[in-house]
Amino acid sequence: MFLCVGNTLKVAVIGVRGFIGQGLAMDLCSKGLEVVGVSRAGRGEVAGVKRWQAVDSMDFSDCGALVNLAGESIDRRWTKATRRKFHESRIGLTRRVVASLRAMPASERPRVLVNASAVGIYGDRGEEVLDEHSLVGGGYLADLCREWEEAAFEAEALGLRVVCLRIGVVMGRGGSAYEKLVRVLKTGLGGKLGNGRQWMPWIHVDDLRRAIVEAILNEQISGVVNGVAPKPERNADFTSKFAKRLGRWAILPVPSFVLKLVLGGFGGVLLASQRVRPSVLESVGFEFRYPDFDKALDELVR
Ligand SMILES: NC(=O)c1ccc[n+]([C@@H]2O[C@H](COP(=O)([O-])OP(=O)(O)OC[C@H]3O[C@@H](n4cnc5c(N)ncnc54)[C@H](OP(=O)(O)O)[C@@H]3O)[C@@H](O)[C@H]2O)c1
Repeated sequence: MFLCVGNTLKVAVIGVRGFIGQGLAMDLCSKGLEVVGVSRAGRGEVAGVKRWQAVDSMDFSDCGALVNLAGESIDRRWTKATRRKFHESRIGLTRRVVASLRAMPASERPRVLVNASAVGIYGDRGEEVLDEHSLVGGGYLADLCREWEEAAFEAEALGLRVVCLRIGVVMGRGGSAYEKLVRVLKTGLGGKLGNGRQWMPWIHVDDLRRAIVEAILNEQISGVVNGVAPKPERNADFTSKFAKRLGRWAILPVPSFVLKLVLGGFGGVLLASQRVRPSVLESVGFEFRYPDFDKALDELVR
């Protein structure tokens, strides 16, 4: 049973000011749940957030559920300093979340922690079909995500149901992936990345937010969950479909060495192939509104 103070389930959302968090706050609110926003500043302006807390003084004592979406954006050059930020904002912060849960009396702890993770955990896997039972991969991002998940799963020993959502590229207006792609493709200078055969697991932001709400409320869900649409696209198809909707051609491929030269480690992420399936979400009957990219584009490009 959830801890509902005054019959309203309170959900603390860390990273609520971010792209996914902002819409999630509205979704939770429209379901009658109360949202406690957690940000570094201890404040913010997000519709649907009833009150705020600072990351440095987290107190979840009247919350029934906790969602952790914090994480410094990785779509930039990876330097020693940025890698430190990627680590601290994910593993460091998740450890602090678990420490504050540990400090609470067991009876007052939230019942569930839904923690962000990423499909980057699978590394570069070519044509292999990956579900939640697949082995994790190697490389910097895979190691980062693995440590991130390990930090979150520490909360299981404290009695919480823990869900680590391995999120694919999130497509939604206002999101960094969508906005960057539109900007590049509209110039007519876009094209497939590398040979374009790599599988890209993506998800429409509306489906991702619905999956997070499902993970909070459905007690059958626990452990690792792939947050991706059922039909991944190869990078070349993804790019050409998107460009076509924008009335452009995507005919200028970006060679692998250029990507790696310009973006370093993050270039490698764009070239990695991950043919990921959302097996857990499908097994609990989750219905995707945007199961394939054409359908998502109907909504995204209007
Ligand atoms: N969007 C995607 O395509 C995608 C794909 C895979 C995984 N994910 C993961 O999903 C989560 C949410 O994604 P999003 O797109 O909503 O991200 P976002 O818009 O960049 O927001 C991330 C949130 O993280 C917090 N944050 C950033 N840097 C931080 C730092 N150094 N220390 C503490 N908190 C920090 C920010 O909170 P405040 O500024 O309010 O404190 C911000 O609200 C992230 O962890 C991301 O890695 C996203």
